[in-house]
Amino acid sequence: MTITIKTGAEIDGMRLAGRLASEVLDYLTPHVKPGVSTEQLDKLAHDYIVNEQQAIPAPLNYAPPGYTPYPKSICTSINHQVCHGIPNDRPLKNGDIVNIDVTVIKNGWHGDTSRMFIVGEGSIAAKRLCALTYEAMWKGIVKVKPGIRLGDIGHTIQTFTENQGFSVVREFCGHGIGQKFHEEPQVLHYGRPGTLEELVPGMTFTIEPMVNAGRREIKETGDGWTIVTKDRSLSAQWEHTVLVTETGYEVLTLSAGSPPPPDFATKG
Ligand code: MF3
Ligand code: CO
Ligand code: CO
Repeated sequence: MTITIKTGAEIDGMRLAGRLASEVLDYLTPHVKPGVSTEQLDKLAHDYIVNEQQAIPAPLNYAPPGYTPYPKSICTSINHQVCHGIPNDRPLKNGDIVNIDVTVIKNGWHGDTSRMFIVGEGSIAAKRLCALTYEAMWKGIVKVKPGIRLGDIGHTIQTFTENQGFSVVREFCGHGIGQKFHEEPQVLHYGRPGTLEELVPGMTFTIEPMVNAGRREIKETGDGWTIVTKDRSLSAQWEHTVLVTETGYEVLTLSAGSPPPPDFATKG
């Protein structure tokens, strides 16, 4: 109903869950190659989360109102799939791009993060889309500090993306996160500066832009979960969970294998 503000030990709980989610992606990385199926990746992730991390894969059986329970432990969205792709037995092939989205629950706290993977040799267009979407996410992240508004984040991501001829998906957004997978507020990846909720220290939410190479329109598929681009153009997504600190932001979903932030995020 309202935005939860995390303090002290709660933030430590979010830090641990966030790092673990990112470490699942580190663990999967060497396995993402031609010939492996997304179902195999799902099994690897599931067993790692449950047995090594003693954590819970949040997607498994997750059933928001109006949805059938999600049947797997991670989401794998390939090529023109925008999000919520369900792992299956089809092998990945050279040149595919795949988003792997991991959410773990540890000691009651959620960490949610996703990365793009290029299978084998990617096309120039695929590499450009994945790199640009990564930058779009970070353009949003570096805005985060007390006093700015959610509309500032959305506006930044939208203008950066559209200025380069790509489009931002509107139907799905980032979200508050904590003891619940999806909390308030919604974090739109488009919008107008100075609008929507003002950020305050202790808020935790995700930034997870979905960027299409073609038009922004999407459609649902028959499985009740997988979302695809209407024009079948390639789509990419990256996701981090972030904390609003007194002076700015802390990314909670970093680990040893995280891709480095872009220069604009590290060099004033
Ligand atoms: N991890 C997704 C997100 O970023 C949500 C997936 S819901 C699921 O919000 F049920 F498909 F896992
Ligand atoms: Co999310
Ligand atoms: Co996610």
